Amino acid sequence: MKKLNILCSFALSLGGFSQTQLFIPDTLVGPNYNLTMHKDSVQFFPSGNRSKTYAYNLYKYLGPTLIFNKGSNVNITVNNQIGDTTTVHWHGIHLPSKWDGGPHTPILPSASWNPQFTVMDNAATYWYHPHMHKKTALQAIKGAAGLIIVRDPIESALVLPRKYGVDDFPLIVQCQQYSSSNQALPLGMQDSTILVNGARANYGYTVVANMPAQVVRMRILNASGERSFNFGFSGNKQFYQIASDGGLLNTPNLTTRIRLAPGERAEILLNLTGMNGQTLYLMSHASELPMGVQGGPTMPMPSWATPMDSPLNGVDFNILKINVVPQTTNPVTTIPSTLTTNVPYTIGQANVTRTIRFTADSAMVMDGPFYFNDSTFDMMRVDYQIPINNIEVWKLVNETMVAHPFHIHDVQFFVIDRNGNPPGPEEKGRKDVVLVPPGDSLMFITKFEDFTDSVIPYMYHCHILMHEDDGMMGQFMVRSNLTGLSETKLNNSVVSIFPNPTKDIINVNIEGSGEAPVSLSIYNVLGKLVYLEKNVKHKVVINSSTWLSGVYIISLQQNESIISRKIIIE
Ligand code: C2O
Ligand code: CU
Ligand code: CU
Repeated sequence: MKKLNILCSFALSLGGFSQTQLFIPDTLVGPNYNLTMHKDSVQFFPSGNRSKTYAYNLYKYLGPTLIFNKGSNVNITVNNQIGDTTTVHWHGIHLPSKWDGGPHTPILPSASWNPQFTVMDNAATYWYHPHMHKKTALQAIKGAAGLIIVRDPIESALVLPRKYGVDDFPLIVQCQQYSSSNQALPLGMQDSTILVNGARANYGYTVVANMPAQVVRMRILNASGERSFNFGFSGNKQFYQIASDGGLLNTPNLTTRIRLAPGERAEILLNLTGMNGQTLYLMSHASELPMGVQGGPTMPMPSWATPMDSPLNGVDFNILKINVVPQTTNPVTTIPSTLTTNVPYTIGQANVTRTIRFTADSAMVMDGPFYFNDSTFDMMRVDYQIPINNIEVWKLVNETMVAHPFHIHDVQFFVIDRNGNPPGPEEKGRKDVVLVPPGDSLMFITKFEDFTDSVIPYMYHCHILMHEDDGMMGQFMVRSNLTGLSETKLNNSVVSIFPNPTKDIINVNIEGSGEAPVSLSIYNVLGKLVYLEKNVKHKVVINSSTWLSGVYIISLQQNESIISRKIIIE
């Protein structure tokens, strides 16, 4: 317990302004990792209360950086000392659902949880954070988050900066909203306090990093509850994006901007060669964000709505001051011309296309609740039963007025289409979060491999944490055998009926059904109609608990097309 309470201890006051050296969380290397989540507090504000926080191990805010090596086994013990139920989710990591840390695997106060798995992911920057339903936003913004760096042989063979904290810098950027008593609020409409690795970075506070005059790497995570950043440097200095959420890009992408929504990560290379003694800033060029993306220009709001009027919206602001210092020994001074070879699946390989519309009660809703396909999250409802090894296209259609970063667990995906166009170079790599602005329609493709479970589902949700807690979340199960699932086609729609056999509940999901309503009827063995619903749009959950056991026929009709399937009630 000696050296780690560094936050704020470097702060020196210069006439009301204070500068803090960039805090670099320590790394933990495997195979055994111990994380104790506890409550703490930080004096973020010059007067008034300390802000209550959650953190891991010896920190007062955030947690250590976990280093994973692809192919190795990890054994993590999470000890919950926050006095409230929580979970820890390994965001972006491909692992069995029982170790994923979603809302179905709570860790009770004072209890421990011991996930063990093999690292299968490509080298990139991932992260961990709580995922308790309805509490994710509050627990995460109180500080219970940290980074995961995965290393693999392909990345290790490249000439890239990877001296952690020396030429390879972790940057966890958050924008937070605090109450008048200095407590983090799980709201985001008026967020204005920027934190970089847990230290205040605006309104009189500056976080400074000394970076050597050579090629440096930054691993940027947007861990905000709501705000998107449009990262770039002062003077529009160019940089190279080398990785997206779940892996290296094929080639470095030379650019001056990278937009990151909540949950997204990017790794970049910045060439500071020859700049010893100079100063520059990592900034958010938020004036260039479109309206509707949180952080962009404030939208005109109806008088009854919560104003989205953070003073940071639509303006450019500094996030990190960079002082360029002398080169290290053996500096990296070149940018590799190629990085890896990603081979996306092609649309022709897909077994199914699922359409997920982002919806709200009305087109005027700005602050939620938001839904997927008009349904709010239900812990008891599994939205999709996915056969193992399915290659699937998910089509995301945003019918609301605000942008939503869509995140899916278990897999990394490839964006294949944005509004009818191929993705830009920044979105060509492996991803697990993608921002869908209002009116946009986006398709990604992925494969559901390796892990099946018939009890614990994986989640997909909006990574605006307040939207997620408000019900903009769904869940899917990857299944090894299809006895519980019959999937079939009606016109161009995929119909799944599950479980089968069943007892109390029959789920009927119709995906990609277009707008024509489906009429659903269920007959018993004697041919007697026991259930009729004429106007099914996307899904229906039928309560069969009072029905006699036996075989029933479900019949679905859309326009002229009819299908019938047998279901057994036990
Ligand atoms: Cu980063 Cu399901 O979350
Ligand atoms: Cu996740
Ligand atoms: Cu959202």
